[in-house]
Amino acid sequence: MQPDPYAPMPAAIVDVFAETPNIKTFRLRPEAPVPFRAGQFVELSVPGLGEAPFTPSSAPSVADTMEITIMRVGLVTERLHALKPGAVVGVRGPLGKPYPLEAMRGREVLVVGGGVGLAPLRALLFALFEDVTAYRKIILRYGARTPSDLVYRGALDDLWGMADAVDAMLTVDRRDDGWTGHEGVVTTILEPGRLTCDARNGVAVVCGPPIMMKFTTVKLLDLGYAPDRIYLSMEKNMSCGIGKCGHCRLGAYYACQDGPVFTFDKVQGLSRIWD
Ligand SMILES: Cc1cc2nc3c(=O)[nH]c(=O)nc-3n(C[C@H](O)[C@H](O)[C@H](O)COP(=O)(O)OP(=O)(O)OC[C@H]3O[C@@H](n4cnc5c(N)ncnc54)[C@H](O)[C@@H]3O)c2cc1C
Ligand code: FES
Repeated sequence: MQPDPYAPMPAAIVDVFAETPNIKTFRLRPEAPVPFRAGQFVELSVPGLGEAPFTPSSAPSVADTMEITIMRVGLVTERLHALKPGAVVGVRGPLGKPYPLEAMRGREVLVVGGGVGLAPLRALLFALFEDVTAYRKIILRYGARTPSDLVYRGALDDLWGMADAVDAMLTVDRRDDGWTGHEGVVTTILEPGRLTCDARNGVAVVCGPPIMMKFTTVKLLDLGYAPDRIYLSMEKNMSCGIGKCGHCRLGAYYACQDGPVFTFDKVQGLSRIWD
């Protein structure tokens, strides 16, 4: 018999890292490994309260624990942020389709993140790093509103020990006194002079707030990226996560099953994709 797809597996919180004033990373140890691939998501539940979808941000190759980076925005995330190591939550998944690493092999991979959108991209970067020579070049462009809104701040200088393998540039919308890097929205570090890329043959992967995804996609098309090589995380409101309830409908697709990662050519004709 199939296990119940609605039944969450208990997972203990073993560590909590404060990333920004409203974002924390939770390290979980599920009762049994939850083998996921970069880009897939899980439904995380707080017993007696509810559940919400999140994309693991840790290396998919680490089997016994999983990290999830969560921004506090409402009911479930507020309660999650109050939990301490030792608390037990529920995990359902993995759900949805992963980033297609096969389609990226042999190509340049441009990863563009905004705010907490770097979370799923961190899992992708870890997966790329494991076979780094398989990709022509890895480029990271990451922006947040202010320096204190950058996630994984302590790791961004040496990029988890892989700085030599990545052409990386960061930006903030508004600098503070300690910031010596670039100032401007993320599309300003996709300009010639700040980005050298092989747009005709390369792959771009974008995750961030809807407005950032919209303007980044316009910029990538301008640069010459093909619509079917621009990968977008469409974080639609979800409920069941398994293609039954219709909450996540996106044209003819269910974002929970056919996504959450879509190439731009699949969604470009659909209405309200950036809502
Ligand atoms: C596939 C997927 C992966 C995600 N991965 C992450 C992640 O790694 N880290 C992270 O911090 N967040 C992620 N999210 C967003 C996260 O699911 C929502 O922030 C969460 O559901 C909010 O729950 P809540 O009960 O705290 O907020 P609620 O009380 O439900 O709502 C608070 C506010 O957020 C809005 N909102 C709620 N859910 C969504 C949603 N799914 N999309 C857009 N707006 C929403 C509501 O309209 C409301 O304005 C992901 C969403 C999806 C669909
Ligand atoms: S969340 Fe229910 S169909 Fe996608």
